[in-house]
Amino acid sequence: MGTRESVTRALEAIENSGRHYRDSLPMIASENIISPLVRKACNSDLHGRYAEGLPFKRYYQGCDDFDTIEDLGIISAKKVFNCTFANIQSTSGTNSNIGTLKALTKPGDTITAVSTADGGHISHARMGGVGVRGLNLITYPWDEDRMEPDIDASAKLIRESEPSLALFGQSVFLFPTPMKELADVAHEVDAKVMYDSAHVLGLIAGGQFQDPLGEGADVMTGSSHKTFPGPQGGFVLSKSEDEKFHRKLNSGIFPGVCSSYHLHHVAGKVISLLEFEEFGEKYASDIIANSKALASALASEGFDVLAEDRGYTESHQVVTRHGEKDSGAGRKAAKILEDSGIITNMNMLPGDTKALSPSGLRLGTPELTRLGMGTDEMQDIAKFFSRALISKESPKNIRNDIMSFKSNFQTVNYCFEPGPAYPGLD
Ligand SMILES: Cc1ncc(COP(=O)(O)O)c(C=O)c1O
Repeated sequence: MGTRESVTRALEAIENSGRHYRDSLPMIASENIISPLVRKACNSDLHGRYAEGLPFKRYYQGCDDFDTIEDLGIISAKKVFNCTFANIQSTSGTNSNIGTLKALTKPGDTITAVSTADGGHISHARMGGVGVRGLNLITYPWDEDRMEPDIDASAKLIRESEPSLALFGQSVFLFPTPMKELADVAHEVDAKVMYDSAHVLGLIAGGQFQDPLGEGADVMTGSSHKTFPGPQGGFVLSKSEDEKFHRKLNSGIFPGVCSSYHLHHVAGKVISLLEFEEFGEKYASDIIANSKALASALASEGFDVLAEDRGYTESHQVVTRHGEKDSGAGRKAAKILEDSGIITNMNMLPGDTKALSPSGLRLGTPELTRLGMGTDEMQDIAKFFSRALISKESPKNIRNDIMSFKSNFQTVNYCFEPGPAYPGLD
C-alpha cells in the first residue's frame, strides 16, 4: 500500500472510531466527550504554538493572547477547585503525577501508595512514574470490603516507613479516601501528602465527593478529561500559601516534564473550566445519581456488583465481578458487551493477580450522563447488560436495539452551546 492509501485508511479508521462510539454506549470510566466550544479551542491555531514559562513571563514572542487565555484559566481553576495555586499546563494526569513527584521527592526516597492490584494507577508504580523518579514504593494494606486503604494498618505502615510522600487516590475509585485519618499521620512523620484525583476531579470540584485539599492533602493532581469534562490534559492544585512551594510545583511541570505544553489543549481546558463554573455542580451530582442507579439496577438483574454493604458506589464508577479470580471472565464479558454495543474495560478485582485475565469490569457513567441520560436510562442499560451476559442473546440484535436507543442521545450537555457529541460523521 502506498502512503496516500495509508492516509486514506487512517482517515477512514478515525471516522469509524467516531461512528463506533456514536452508535454504542460509552461506559469507560476514564472517558468523556468535549463540548462544542472546547472542541473549537482545541482545533485552533494554538495547536502549533509554543509558550514556555508562565503567563507574562515567557521565553517566546507571540504569547500575549495566550497569556490572557492561561491567566483566565488559572483564575477559574482556583475558583473551581477552591485552592490558592493552580498549574493548568500539564498534558495529562500521568504528567501531573511525574512532575509533582519530581517537585516533592528525590531519587531513593520512600513513597507510600495504593498498589495497582488494589486499583492504584501505573503512574504510582515502579513500572510507571514512581520508577521514573527512582523511588522506593511501599503499598498500603487494602480493606477489600470497604474498597479503601485499611485505615489502622495504613497508619501503622506510614509511621513505620516514614515516607517522604504519602500518595492517595486510585483508578478503581468507588468511595472517598479516609484522608482525615491518614493525612495527619503522614504529616506527623513529615511526609508531604499528595492526592491523585484523576478520576474523581469533576466530582470533587462539583462538591459531590470529598475535599482532599481541605482534608489535609498538600497537593492534588488530576486529569482534565474524566469526570472533569475537558480536553485530555492535567492539573496540579494546592491550598498552600507558600510561594516557594508553588514555584517547586510549577517547575516540576515546566521544565520538569514539559517544554511545549500543547497550548490548544490548555485553551480547551480554560473553556471547560469556565463551563464547569456554570454547570459543574449539577453535572457531578447527576453522574453520581446515575452510577448509584446503574449499580442497583445491575444487582437487580442478578449481577455481582461490588461493595453492596456500602451502597455499591459514591463515585462515577460501578464494579462488577463475572467469575472466579484470574479466570479472565472480565475480559470475556467486555468482549461480548462490545459486540453488543457497550464499550467497557476489564479490570482486576481484589484477589486477581493477572492484569490480562481479570475477573471484573469497571463501568462509568460520565459520558452517558453528559449525553443527557438519567436514572431511567440506567435501568434500560442494566437490561441490555442482562440480555448480553445473562440471557446471552445474539449480540447483533442487542447492538441494533442499542443503536436505536443511543440515537436519542447525541448532544453534549452541561455546557454553554450544547451541540453534536460526535460531529463530522455521516
Ligand atoms: C488514578 C489515576 N491517576 C492518573 C491517571 C492518568 O491519567 P492520564 O490518562 O491523564 O495520564 C489515571 C488514568 O486513568 C488514573 O486512574
